[in-house]
Amino acid sequence: MKKLLLITILLTGSLFAQVKGNIEIPYIPYKIKTGKGSSVVQANCLTCHSFGYVLNMGKQSKSFWEEKVHKMVHSFKAPIKKKDQVIIANYLFKYYGNGKLK
Ligand code: HEC
Repeated sequence: MKKLLLITILLTGSLFAQVKGNIEIPYIPYKIKTGKGSSVVQANCLTCHSFGYVLNMGKQSKSFWEEKVHKMVHSFKAPIKKKDQVIIANYLFKYYGNGKLK
């Protein structure tokens, strides 16, 4: 019985653990190549996550970037206009592309 009480105290105690002071989440400013379409990318692709997600992919093909933009819009519901989706895919391929269409 004592054991049970001890376990209960230990478990519930940690549920109420608090951190003193402010918690700061580091902001990492990834550099975005500026050029045709970069402002559209900044306006549409940084609302949910950082540009690091794009940089982590490495240089990729045109269809890869088109699919990524498509995925953001259709799977994750990014509200990006059709016209802007094309501009973004072209931008990504121009600055972060590997030169291959497929
Ligand atoms: C509505 C929110 C939202 C917007 C806006 C958004 N993304 Fe994402 N993105 C996500 C989510 C959610 C993930 C998956 C995160 C995870 O798996 O940890 C993701 C992941 C990614 C990845 C990683 C690869 C992958 O397939 O998961 C890339 C690259 C990416 N996004 C690019 C973009 C680009 C380019 C844009 C602008 C067109 C964009 N994102 C806009 C939500 C968004």
